[in-house]
Amino acid sequence: MTQALPKDTNPGGNIFGGWVLAQMDIAGELMANEIACGPAVTVTVDKMAFKLPVHVGDTICIYAELLRVGNSSMDIKLEVWARQLFGEYKAESHLVTEGIFRYVALDKRGSPSRVPDNPQIFDRSCNAD
Ligand SMILES: CC(C)(COP(=O)(O)OP(=O)(O)OC[C@H]1O[C@@H](n2cnc3c(N)ncnc32)[C@H](O)[C@@H]1OP(=O)(O)O)[C@@H](O)C(=O)NCCC(=O)NCCS
Repeated sequence: MTQALPKDTNPGGNIFGGWVLAQMDIAGELMANEIACGPAVTVTVDKMAFKLPVHVGDTICIYAELLRVGNSSMDIKLEVWARQLFGEYKAESHLVTEGIFRYVALDKRGSPSRVPDNPQIFDRSCNAD
């Protein structure tokens, strides 16, 4: 969870989409690091949708779901939910942005490396492609 600050606004006064995307990438990379048991980098961002604006002072929570594990790649769906805590208190949160990020596990030389099997977390045989 983090808070959108005035320094992150666009000229329209709402939160800059690039800031939201950066928070998603940080969250997804943390999950990819855990799954890969090591470093991973972002290779693609897909199906990004900015559905609602994020306002200054909103808190955002990012939820990550592992969709697919290939050889070295991992597809992670990220959802951003925002809640107004600054000014008028609002108890409910709203889905503001979502996207599917692909990460690639790297070895010590920075080359793609196979994501180690972890049957408690994922099953490669379920992959669609
Ligand atoms: C990610 C990177 C290491 C992949 O290197 P590469 O030589 O293309 O590696 P490969 O061709 O062996 O592909 C590795 C995996 O990435 C996937 N991949 C690579 N390019 C892709 C693309 N354009 N779209 C979708 N998947 C892609 C491949 O399908 C493969 O998945 P798999 O191992 O599960 O089958 C390299 O492109 C890189 O370093 N990119 C910069 C990453 C970075 O700096 N990210 C931060 C951006 S701000």
